[in-house]
Amino acid sequence: AKPGTEHGPDALREGGLIKKLMGLGLDVHDYGDVGTPSHEDDHHFDLPVKNPKHVATASENIAADVYNVIKSGRTCLALGGDHSMAIGSIFGHSLAEPEHVVVWVDAHADINTPLTSSSGNMHGMPLSFLVKELQPYISKLPGFEFIKPCLSAKNIAYIGLRDVDPGERYIIEKLGIQSFSMSEVDRHGIKDVVEKAMHYLDPEGVKPIHLSFDIDALDPSLAPSTGTPVPGGLSIREGNYICEELAATGRLTCVDIAEVNPSLGNERDNLITVNSALSIITHCFGGRRQGTYPKNYQIP
Ligand code: ARG
Ligand code: MN
Ligand code: MN
Ligand code: MN
Repeated sequence: AKPGTEHGPDALREGGLIKKLMGLGLDVHDYGDVGTPSHEDDHHFDLPVKNPKHVATASENIAADVYNVIKSGRTCLALGGDHSMAIGSIFGHSLAEPEHVVVWVDAHADINTPLTSSSGNMHGMPLSFLVKELQPYISKLPGFEFIKPCLSAKNIAYIGLRDVDPGERYIIEKLGIQSFSMSEVDRHGIKDVVEKAMHYLDPEGVKPIHLSFDIDALDPSLAPSTGTPVPGGLSIREGNYICEELAATGRLTCVDIAEVNPSLGNERDNLITVNSALSIITHCFGGRRQGTYPKNYQIP
């Protein structure tokens, strides 16, 4: 909704993302920015959704790129952009790996339908277009014809929720979506929450995992440069723990990092936010707090 998240990826690149990933001994390829052209007269005639064609075109392009990256046997890191990016990345992931499950780490549930949303912001709706059980309630939007709902309610687990709209809460309960809000993190601790979420999504431990990480899941003190900060979020330790655990499964195939917005806040806010995002990303890709070394390391 607020302009600026399109600069998120460059802020992360300038913050040293590629070098950090290469430092983990990874073979990194930057595929560059995905084309996200805007359209004239981009509004819906009777729904309050903002820029549906823009989001549709971007989603289609993101889906194609994510599909190709995963098909080529690589692990995908998709940098946002606002969280509507997950429509394309999750759909693209499902084209390559139909059985994948989704861990959605966010202050928000992002499962408003165009009709339950009070903001009309599509970053608050991505999951609604992907969840099979919700399709009877989803209005046809221009450009969205290519999306085939690819998730069942049981394939999703939320972690970090603390700002959920009434319609979203109702949907979560009605569909039985597994949700670990900050209350559950407080009550059980992050270790229990991650264990329970993974056991629920995939008791056998065989399915590919999609992590969709909204930077606003972290406490605003750690991620101030974001559009919809909510107090009382995850610590960097909790965020990194989630990522370490998912990475350790060896099945983390695609990671979204959404809602880093360098046009919000001052320079210091930007730096804090970028560093938090980089920390989250590196812990998704083999970085461990106990330390790591590249393959074939020798004592010099
Ligand atoms: N629930 C609110 C809405 O529908 C806020 C969504 C925030 N989502 C995000 N990706 N920052 O507008
Ligand atoms: Mn946004
Ligand atoms: Mn959010
Ligand atoms: Mn989000």
